[in-house]
Order: sequence, then C-alpha cells, then structure tokens
Amino acid sequence: MLLLVAGAVTVQSTGPAAAAETTLRAAAAKAGLFFGVAASPNRLHPIVGQEFNQLTPENDMKPDRIATSSGGLQNTGGADTLVNHARSNNMLVRGHTLVWHSQAGALQGASQATLNTFIGNAINRWGSRIAYWDVVNEALEDNNTGRRRNQWPHSMNRDANGDGDFFDAGDTDVIRDSFIRAKQVVQAGGLTTKLCINDYDVEGLTVRGGTPNRKANALYDIVRTYRQYIDCVGFQAHFNDNPNSIITNDLQANIQRFADLGVEVHLSELDIDDDLSNNDIGAGQAENYRKVVRACLNVAKCTGITVWGISDSESWRSSERGLLFSGGNGNYQKKAAYHAVLDELNKGRSATPPTTPPVTSDPPTTPPTAGCSATVSLNSWTGGFVATVRVTAGTSPINGWNVQLTLPSGTTVTNAWSANRTGTTGTVQFSNVSYNGSLNAGQYTEFGFQGTGAATGLTPVCTAS
Ligand code: XIL
Repeated sequence: MLLLVAGAVTVQSTGPAAAAETTLRAAAAKAGLFFGVAASPNRLHPIVGQEFNQLTPENDMKPDRIATSSGGLQNTGGADTLVNHARSNNMLVRGHTLVWHSQAGALQGASQATLNTFIGNAINRWGSRIAYWDVVNEALEDNNTGRRRNQWPHSMNRDANGDGDFFDAGDTDVIRDSFIRAKQVVQAGGLTTKLCINDYDVEGLTVRGGTPNRKANALYDIVRTYRQYIDCVGFQAHFNDNPNSIITNDLQANIQRFADLGVEVHLSELDIDDDLSNNDIGAGQAENYRKVVRACLNVAKCTGITVWGISDSESWRSSERGLLFSGGNGNYQKKAAYHAVLDELNKGRSATPPTTPPVTSDPPTTPPTAGCSATVSLNSWTGGFVATVRVTAGTSPINGWNVQLTLPSGTTVTNAWSANRTGTTGTVQFSNVSYNGSLNAGQYTEFGFQGTGAATGLTPVCTAS
C-alpha cells in the first residue's frame, strides 16, 4: 500500500509539466483571477462563455437604460439576459454602473436621495448574482488635475469649510454617501456583492514624462478615506497615446499600493490602442498586453481583468484595434495579443521575474559630486498622513538615490510605494527601485509613503549614487 502511494507520487513528479490551458478563462482560473469581457445581449456568441468567466454589461445596466427619474427600475430585460447568460455559463458579473455623470438618462440631475433610491433598487434587483458593482464611475477630472469633476453628480459635493478637502467633518460627498447607501443595502440583504469605484487614467503612479499621476493619487486618497465602504477598485485601463493613458513601468507598483489598502483591484475595461502612429505607447500590442497582464498577476489582490469587448470591429473604439480578436458577428479570429495574454496567464502568478541585465565592469562615469535634493509634501488628517517625496537630480545625471528622513516620535510608516524602505520609525531610509533610479540632470521622480501619527517638519537628506 505504502509502495503504491510512493509510486504514484514518483510518477507525478517526474511526469511532463502540466499542459497549458487553452482558453483565457481556464488559464485565469488556474492563476486565481477572472478574465472577463464587456457584452451586450446581441453579442452573446458562444465565444463569450468559452473564453471568459466574467461578464460586464457594456451598456445594459447604465442608468439611461434602467433608471426612472425617481430612482425606480425600468427596461431591465437586457440586463436580465446578460445576468442569466453569465449564470448559465458559470461567469461572474460586474455590475456597471450606479452613479455616473454620463449615460445618466432620467437620473441626470437627481438628488442624493434619488440616487440612493436607485442604488437600493438596482442592488436588490439582482442581489448576490452581481459579484461586483461599480458604485461610482469616473468621479475625477481629466488632464491629471487630481480634482473631482465639477459637474453633476459631483457638483452635489459641499465643501463645508471651503478648503478644497471634501473629507472634513460637515462636508457632504456624493462618493461617500453613495457607497454608504450601497453598503447598507448589501448588509441589510446579507449579500455577497462587493462594491467598487472605477476610473480611467489612474493606472500608473506616473504619466508620460514621469509626471506624478495626480488622478491616481486622488483616487488613492478616496479609497483610503472611505475604505470601510469600498471593497474594490477598477482601473479601466483604456490604454492609448494620450499622455495620461499610456502604459508606464510603475503600473504594478500602483496596483500594489491600492492592494495594500486591502481592496481588490481589477483592470476593468482593458483595451490597448494598436495605432502606433504616435509612438508614445511603445512596443507592440501583444507585448503591451503581456506587460499589463503580468502587472496584475504579480499582485495577489489584482483579482480580475475584463477586456472591453470581444473584437476590434465591435469595440467602442474600433479604429484603435485594441482587443484580442479580429472578425465579428460570432466569427472571430485570435490576434497575436490573444496568444500573448493566454501565454502570460498560463505562467501564473509566480513567473520568475526577469533577471537584471549584468552590469558592465566599466568604472562609473558619474562624477562623485553628482547630487540630488528632496522635498516632501504632505496630505495629513487626524492621526495619519500620506507623504509625497520629490527627488531631483543635481547638475549631473544620477544612477540611484537614497533619501533619509527622521520621523517624530510616535510616527510610524505603514507602507511605501515607488521606493525600497528600511525602517518604520525614527530614522527611515528610502532608496530607488529599478525603474526610477536613473535621472538626468535636473530631472525628478516621486515616491510616497503613508503613516500613522504626524509628519510635520521633515527634513529629507538625499544622497545620489
Ligand atoms: C462605453 C460603451 O462601450 C459604448 O458602447 C457606449 O456608447 C459608451 O460607453 N468608460 C466606461 C464605460 O465606464 O461605460 C464606457 O462604455 C467606456 C468608458
């Protein structure tokens, strides 16, 4: 008996490597995430259930389809068809979307009370059949300002003391209030539905040219502040040549910092522009897909990826040819991007990271006088803070940096991003990570950390290498 067991084990361990999965959904499931697609009732071809294990209604759950002006429901047939299709194909559903400035239909201009009525009706209509709901979509302004949109429903915000900070006592906030309502409905109904905030141009820590991604930072602040009501964050991930919409090397670091807040992260509406006429996005489409999928796989709490449509010709941005299939109307062909995604998913979460290229043995050419300086800006609240540190190279290029800070007693760093950290209290060191150590003369990069306690009066000391 013992011999038999030992024999079976031997056969298993010397046998060929497990066969690669041949569909996106199977490969993703093995890696522990969903791989989904946005769909409409007229696009429920067999491929949907064969390749994908999650479905987002591309338009059929938006307020302009299903909301009445008083927050009731109407015309839920399309959404029902999609939810039923998902169930019979064993797919999760991401509900999309409850509070949004666009496609608001009869809800346009509604009060918070009416939005709350709609939130309750919609969540209860489908209950736990919706695994994730986008409660608030696209709350933040374009052009990397880091501000909230100044249009309904965000114009309902009231900044009680006028300091530009919506998080103070006495302020009202459509984001907070909508999430509170949604959470209340979920809890009252004993539902398993998780509640997400969703936005675009929030994917990287930086945008083109290394400029900090203020929109991502603003979203981070919202999630941190309202973490008790928010379960998940969707990065839409519509990647294209817009300076704020490119794929940056710090995508994974940004996913990681949200994950470190304890929320799940989804790449919720992925498509990648294949128009390289303006070469900002770099690389080829398949390589770009591979890179984005890898960034998600490398973060355990990145729990799903959804592509925004099946084929290029049926996409909302067909001219960008941004999806995984060509063809249409049920007759689809896999693109190189499809094979790249499948291959990357098949490697799973723990693919060996790329080896660092060998360093040449030439002596460093940077003169030892090359220096750097660092400044800190703070976003503080009672009992905590987020610090953004800007590291600027001096008159010569630098290949690496170290910033030392002495924290007041009682202050503790809880997490950091875009830097390696040593220590959490007292004197703390931060040094560059692989992608932000090399700076040209005068160029800067930023890293951040979060902590408890106060962080006023910090004097950073920067040393370059
Ligand atoms: C798009 C749909 O794909 C189109 O069919 C529709 O005409 C407009 O909306 N961000 C979102 C999605 O959150 O709801 C949008 O979907 C794409 C951008």
